[in-house]
Formats: sequence, structure tokens, C-alpha cells
Amino acid sequence: MKRLLDRAARKHPATMAEKWHARLNGSPKPMEGQRRAAFVALVRADAMAVARAGQIDARVAADRMRAGVEDGTLGQGILAQDRELLLQVLSEFVDPAEHLYQQLNLKFTPDTRLAYTDAHVLEAPTEPTKGSYNKVFALKVMNADGVVQDKVFKPLKAAEKNTIGLVTGIPADDSQTAMRNIATVSLAKKLGLDVVADTQMALIDTGRGPLDPDLGLIMERAAGTQARFVDPDVLAQPAVFAEVTKLQLLDHLTGQVDRHPNNYFIHVGPNGDAKVTGIDNDLCFGKNLTSPADIQRIETDDRFMPFEGTDLPPVIDESMARSIQELTEDDLRSILSDKLNEDEIDAAGSRLEGLKNYVISLDLAGKVIKPDQWADPQVQQLFTAKNSYIGRERVSHKVS
Ligand SMILES: Nc1ncnc2c1ncn2[C@@H]1O[C@H](COP(=O)(O)OP(=O)(O)O)[C@@H](O)[C@H]1O
Ligand SMILES: [Mg+2]
Repeated sequence: MKRLLDRAARKHPATMAEKWHARLNGSPKPMEGQRRAAFVALVRADAMAVARAGQIDARVAADRMRAGVEDGTLGQGILAQDRELLLQVLSEFVDPAEHLYQQLNLKFTPDTRLAYTDAHVLEAPTEPTKGSYNKVFALKVMNADGVVQDKVFKPLKAAEKNTIGLVTGIPADDSQTAMRNIATVSLAKKLGLDVVADTQMALIDTGRGPLDPDLGLIMERAAGTQARFVDPDVLAQPAVFAEVTKLQLLDHLTGQVDRHPNNYFIHVGPNGDAKVTGIDNDLCFGKNLTSPADIQRIETDDRFMPFEGTDLPPVIDESMARSIQELTEDDLRSILSDKLNEDEIDAAGSRLEGLKNYVISLDLAGKVIKPDQWADPQVQQLFTAKNSYIGRERVSHKVS
């Protein structure tokens, strides 16, 4: 508050000393950028101090301060614009979600509703792994039914600097990362391809205090091991072939260009059943990818597309073929309409059409197999590093 009174004195100097101070320092500068950030930090510290002194919740303290500024008991004599800013900052502390959704340009829809907040957190977030790019936290939460769950929380950023995404048409200044993740999960559910981590929105304090939480994605913690680190014999299991191929098909449809072997997990159960979980579904649905094979890495003399995908799979099974053929363009549009823009939805429609045609061509070539044929060595050997994730992983793990 003292700082705000100083600013008021510099703008409207009353005493001789204030006039000199104003002349030496100039009029107070507008509170923007770092100046604003520093101001927000000061107000936050004040609110935390009020909370501690009154032994009340930090947001309640911020709300009382706001009421005080509004009724004039707090902040008398400060500049009108500072008063406005102070009120705004305090409101952001009281209801951080509102302001963070706005900052990320994230629409309020049934799928982006906050599923978890600090009230659900049983074990505070820790940072077990450093992603190549994003900070990711592990935590335990209790859901609405009282069930304790292991989760992963990935805070969202206002601006992304992903050059790979840019090539596909994902804008850097409004990347809509949350919507891309949520759209992937919705589409996977519709297709019955249970191969990506369920993802919702959460507002969680990751260590900067209750008045500075992050808005981010909260996901189930994937079982098993990242594909990069699995035992080679895992990559020979029929169920793993099938599940990894499902993930690959989903990625062709979503235009996912970041499915390197750190971005999916494989878990094999005691009976040989396999669970594949795709994570990090950020870089997908770019408007420039109109064909399902466009996610493949290309490194030729005249073209370099550093994507982490592959060409289309050489074989699929009957249930996968059915999933693709039964998804109509209308289904696709209705799932994506509140999540992505028109160009992105059109590109997805075009990838779906391409994928349907590809399924027909596989069928005609006798490459749509029965589920028990995943064990057939002749089937398995068709999978190469170029045409499939499983083939690529087998080559890098030297599975013969
Ligand atoms: N749902 C999840 N389950 C388990 N581990 C995860 C999950 N999400 C992220 N991780 C871990 O955090 C790391 C970074 O997350 P990721 O989403 O891939 O971030 P980045 O965009 O930086 O690559 C992953 O490589 C993985 O080790
Ligand atoms: Mg990643």
C-alpha cells in the first residue's frame, strides 16, 4: 500500500519533498510487464500475510482485502488506475480460474470444466520427471467417489514455442493445447481405442502458494514403461502389436506428430494382456495435415519434416477396421466442433476419409486380419521402422 501511496504522491505532488521526488523520478510508469508482475507478487505477499495473521484461507484474505478496497477502508489516496489494478489482481487471487482460462483463451465447455482443484489433492505435487520441454508433476488426488488416484499434472503455458507444431499449422500464440489433448481423448473414446491417458482440467498449486495456482491437464498416471525403455521381448507380444497399432491409427486420424517412444507407455499384464497409453497429446490436429500419412518423419534432400510419426500400418485387425469405418464424418464434426476451429476440423475430416480408403485397400489386399493372427510371424515381419511404431521400436530395440 505504501508503494501505491508513493506513486500517487509522484503523480499529484503536494509537499515540496514530493515535488522534488516527482521531478527526479518522473510520473509513475504504467504497471505493465515486469512492473506488473512485481506488483502482483507484492499484493500476493500482503494477502498471504493477512491470511497468516488472521489464520484464514488465503483466498478469503484476498477477498476481504478486495472488499476493503471497494468500500474505501483500504487504499485511500492511491491513484485511480492503481486502485483498479489492485482490485483486478485481488479478484484474480479470489477466482484464479476465470483469469487463467482467459489468459489461455480456453473455452468453458463440459470437457474443460475443472475436474480437480487443491481441495482434492492428498499428496502435494512433486516433480519426478523433467520432460524435454514441459514441467510435469506427480500427485495423488481423491475423486468425487472418495477413490484415491495416482495422477500426473501438466501445467499449460500461454505461449508455446514448438516449431514442429508450427509446421503442422498449430499457432504459437494460441496453441489450444488443452483442447488438442481433450479432443484426442474424446475421439479415442468414440472409436473404442483405449490407448491414451484420460485427461481433464485441473487448477493446482504446484509450489508457488495457494494464490498462484496453475491451470493444467490432469491425467491418469500411465502404467508400465515408456516404449523406449521396455524389454525387447515385450515388443514381440501379439497383444502389444495390436495395442500399439491402435495408437498409431488414432494418431493418423488426429494428425499427432509427436509420438516418439517416450510419449507412450506399454504395460504387459501377467496373462499377456497389454495396455498402451499415449501421453503428451499436445501436437495434433494441425490444419495443414490433410492426409493420414502426413504424420510421418521425412528426411530427404529436398524435404525435412521432423515429425515423430510413421507411414500407415501394413496390417490392421477386424475390430480396428470396424472402428474406423463406423466413425462418420458427422460424428467427427460433432466431437470436434466445440474444441477446434473450422480448418482443423476440415483437415481431420480429410484424414478420416483417407484412413477409410486405406482400410478398404488393406481389406482388398487381405491385410485386415483376425485378432489371433497378431501372433503370426509372417504378419509381424511386415511391420518396419518406416510403416509403424511397433516396427520402429523393434528396430531400435534390435528385436529380430
Ligand atoms: N500420464 C502420464 N503418466 C506417466 N508419466 C507421465 C504422464 N505424462 C507425463 N509423464 C512423464 O512426464 C514426462 C514429460 O511429459 P510430456 O507430456 O511428455 O511433456 P513434454 O511435452 O515436455 O514432452 C514424460 O516423458 C513422462 O515421463
Ligand atoms: Mg513428451
